[in-house]
Amino acid sequence: MTKHELKELLNSLTLKEKIGQMFQALPHIFGEDGAITGIFDENVETDDIIATVGSILNMYDTERMKKLQEQHLKYSKIPLLFMNDIIHGFNTIFPISPALAATFNPRLIKETARITAKESAAFGINVTFSPMVDISRDARWGRVCEGYGEDTYLSSICSKSMVEGYQGESLQNDDTIAACVKHFALYGAPYDGRDYNNVDMSERMMRNDYLPPYKAAVDANVAMIMTAFNTINGTPATINHHTNVDILRDEWGFDGVSITDYGSAKMCLSAGVVDNHTETAQLLIENKVDIDMMGGVYGLKYLGEAVKSGTVSIEQIDECVMRILKLKNKLGLFENPYKYFKGSDSISESERVNHRAIARQSVSESSTLVKNDDSLLPIAKDKKVAFIGPFVEKNDLTTHWAQIHGEREIGLYINEAVNSFPELKGEYSYSIGCPYLSDDKELSEKPENPCENNAKLYEKEAIEQAKKADTIVMLMGEPHELFGESGSRTEITIPEVQMALLRKINEVNKNIVVVLFNGRPLVLSELSELAKSIIISWYPGSQGYLGICDMLFGYTSPSGRLPFSFPRKSGQVPLFYSNIATGHDHPEGQFHKYVLRYIDTLNSPLYPFGYGLSYTEFEYSNLSLSSSTLKRGEKITVSIDVENIGNHDGFETVQLYIRDVKSRLVARPLKELKAFEKKFIKSGEKKTVKFEIAEEMLKFYDKDCKFNAENGEFIVYIGSHSLDDSNSANFELV
Ligand code: BGC
Repeated sequence: MTKHELKELLNSLTLKEKIGQMFQALPHIFGEDGAITGIFDENVETDDIIATVGSILNMYDTERMKKLQEQHLKYSKIPLLFMNDIIHGFNTIFPISPALAATFNPRLIKETARITAKESAAFGINVTFSPMVDISRDARWGRVCEGYGEDTYLSSICSKSMVEGYQGESLQNDDTIAACVKHFALYGAPYDGRDYNNVDMSERMMRNDYLPPYKAAVDANVAMIMTAFNTINGTPATINHHTNVDILRDEWGFDGVSITDYGSAKMCLSAGVVDNHTETAQLLIENKVDIDMMGGVYGLKYLGEAVKSGTVSIEQIDECVMRILKLKNKLGLFENPYKYFKGSDSISESERVNHRAIARQSVSESSTLVKNDDSLLPIAKDKKVAFIGPFVEKNDLTTHWAQIHGEREIGLYINEAVNSFPELKGEYSYSIGCPYLSDDKELSEKPENPCENNAKLYEKEAIEQAKKADTIVMLMGEPHELFGESGSRTEITIPEVQMALLRKINEVNKNIVVVLFNGRPLVLSELSELAKSIIISWYPGSQGYLGICDMLFGYTSPSGRLPFSFPRKSGQVPLFYSNIATGHDHPEGQFHKYVLRYIDTLNSPLYPFGYGLSYTEFEYSNLSLSSSTLKRGEKITVSIDVENIGNHDGFETVQLYIRDVKSRLVARPLKELKAFEKKFIKSGEKKTVKFEIAEEMLKFYDKDCKFNAENGEFIVYIGSHSLDDSNSANFELV
């Protein structure tokens, strides 16, 4: 439709129809044939829903969706949108978001989103509530499993890559979907790590550290944005005018669709900041929020009332509805409201094979080797290997978001994966050993107990097998019931029952490899003493065990790098590398009084941000700058040689950090990641890696909250992780 046609369409709508566009319904209000079957909300005239509703949330049935669209279009000129939470893949399930961040491979990340878009679009979905780019530095928060880690720059790159992948070349194409970046803003920074809790943050920290990933999505033309459940400095994010309008709309120029998070509009009343939902409706409109998910606040009762009483004008409503119409138009729905219903069968088997190959590649590229004593990995193909741990009984290495629908591919069990490699000639045994959790854990959702209340028997079997094996591969970690939405924990540890088994196994055989499944950084201090090798695999998705076998038996080398600092103890969180100097800093491990430290542990993480080993080794040398003076508006180049001095080929992720040594009245982080390159380097080969440094990379929000780079001294570090200081050079901005 042309602009003019859209305007005419808008002008032809009644108030009820306009408000309908701003309302989002759950599928349970519709029956199999799309008829209305029940009251959804006391504030919504149900008879009108089918005719006026603008979008549907989380429906997973192509035929039903298609029928609903048909039925809707009998009454309405405006096609429905189908919005779903497609978070780490649709049919093909990829590793979870922190794992994708760990790949440090934007091209691969984009490709996973591209595949996800193809698969969901064929199924009938046209919007995904992804990417979630809430920076979090507090691993107690259960939703760190959905974000891209602690770092602003890495998260921004992931945010951009995901949006570009989902939205492709054009939303007009029938294999692209609209992305919705969330949760705006600061949802990942509740002050005590508990999901939904309040956020209080300085304007400068918010702009320097937390907002850039959302902005990266906006700059990549993301179609939608979702507000957040939390308050920001006292005001609910959903009606926070400063973030929603001053920053998002006015400063960043976002003109896409804004949607509330599930029921977050109604929460304004519970937060005690409004008198009633009609006032919330008025505030939502003033915040330029276009759709209310599951709220009913944008129903005739409240929004209609606000219009009647004059606190909301028709012009304001029109502005919101126009943004929604524009999105539907961008997606090409007016020309063909059925373009998304090609059906999953429309994806050919050869495409599926390719999707699985990318998912499998992502497992090695995201899994992070943090320890490999005695080169226990890779395991020779003729060894006796005992696979032990509760994850032996699991083939679905996915999380809640993939599990809410039945469309996902389910992977192989570990034994099936091992058997699929004909060249493996060793002896392989499999035993569960222990449950995921001890029975006394109080949880609303509990993992099933694979030991059928016969834990002792399972433990005995595991120990017997461990005694006979050359190498033990422990498949253990955090069951997905312990993280995700409302999955906050105070102790970010591996369940004790699994650690107890590991201790017993260690008594009979020390050749232990741990493959860890986790949704957050966990405390691995004791584990790192009991295991010789550790691969952190997060939740690797539907190709999980095939990808894991690739690494275990040396077909690939794990090449992930940690997107979070992993603490030594739970009490260290929030923990992140980009701290600022305090004046009380002191060399690690020298326990003087009056210095910045804990009494009972070191300051440093067990494994720092950016860290990860490989089956080979890399040596860095010859860091050199093209000039030690950077003139504003110009660039200098920094280069370094990276040599693979080990016996295997492998990937190295070369990371560039910058320190702004002196800045006027605002202390700057000791280091910030500003660039990286993931390079494949063959054994014995040396590559020169070059980066450009530009003024833009040195800018920050200064004491007056102006975005500036200050003249003066900077240090550039290039290395293999955030605490690697071995190669650095100074330069000056003039
Ligand atoms: C979550 C969102 C999600 C929405 C819709 C909310 O509870 O916070 O991330 O997109 O539900 O399912």
